[in-house]
Amino acid sequence: MYLTREEEKVLDGELGTGYEKMMRILVKMGEIFGAERLIPVKSAQISGVSYRTIGDAGLHFLKSLHGVRVSVPATLNPLAFDDDHLKELRVDEEMYQKQMEIITAYTDMGIKPTMTCTPYYYDNVPDFGEHIAWAESSAVIYANSIIGARTNREGSVSALASAVIGKTPEYGYHLKENRKATHIIDVNFEPEGEDYPLIGLFVGSAVDGVPYFRIRGDYTDFKLMGAAMAASGSVAMYHVESITPEYKGALNDNVERITVDRNDIEGFKGAPVDVELVAIGCPHVSRDELRKIAEFLDGKRKKRGVELWIFAAKSVMDRSDEYVNVIRKFGGKVMKDTCVVVSNAGKIYSYIGTNSGKAAFYLRKEKFGGAKVVVRDMYTLLRSVIE
Ligand code: F3S
Repeated sequence: MYLTREEEKVLDGELGTGYEKMMRILVKMGEIFGAERLIPVKSAQISGVSYRTIGDAGLHFLKSLHGVRVSVPATLNPLAFDDDHLKELRVDEEMYQKQMEIITAYTDMGIKPTMTCTPYYYDNVPDFGEHIAWAESSAVIYANSIIGARTNREGSVSALASAVIGKTPEYGYHLKENRKATHIIDVNFEPEGEDYPLIGLFVGSAVDGVPYFRIRGDYTDFKLMGAAMAASGSVAMYHVESITPEYKGALNDNVERITVDRNDIEGFKGAPVDVELVAIGCPHVSRDELRKIAEFLDGKRKKRGVELWIFAAKSVMDRSDEYVNVIRKFGGKVMKDTCVVVSNAGKIYSYIGTNSGKAAFYLRKEKFGGAKVVVRDMYTLLRSVIE
């Protein structure tokens, strides 16, 4: 891979071992994926933040980078708790301390402590065509598909390396030719409600490439569908005809066809159960979702025996006081900085309802608590928490 003189100096350790380590990661990746050069990125979004997921090994690695600073705007993924809800999330002293050490290690590098998987609402907003290095899979697929920014599905370390160096190897979704559709998805029904995340789970498990849909929906529907696709598989980009910004010219005659029938998605839905927790906000909710939830709950009474937890970016909550207050008055919790998957929620509750295919995908796994999870649309879930 071609390196400029400046890049070679960093690789030779002229700026210190931390920067050298970061450059080595980018060069190694570039060599593996056949990149010809490094290209500048406008921002990074870094996963590997929750102590529950990275543990002591991750913390040790971050501490080894002491003195290294990022060179482009960078934001963080959710962590293990919201510090206003430590009791409900059953956060012990050790977890709290270690998590704070992780956050300090990141902020010492100059990374903004905005812990969200939806930085694209306010905290880290890319433009169409911009090259970025993002790690959170749901944010990657949103940025590529809905915004038209260009990112590969980075790992936590490679996104951090890009944040520090300000560059990424030019391969994969940074190249226009790799952003074309590889599969056309024929959905044999008009999707609504929970169909979107369920379609996402099915297509993610069936497609390794760039699916092309001919369906209708709004950005929340596609956010949920994309997050699910990226969770059950490795999809990092999709097109929706007449909706997403790069659909024109994305199709050619060689694409494979996949049909989705109702039967294909039923199995992901989960059998009906009396849920103990309704969790909405995977990915984190938008201001518009908070508005819809608040408008539905306003003046209603919460049922006993079932909790309502909503997860949002702090920046979204700060702009939505009027809706957050209504939800809290109802008896729901609106949490920042964390989510139903990376917090202890899956260990605390055994029966969970969510509108997120991604949350269902992970929470059903033993590692995340092995809960029984039902996927339903937001209003069905909200109806289950009112008296
Ligand atoms: Fe976000 Fe957590 Fe879901 S990071 S996409 S809310 S698993």
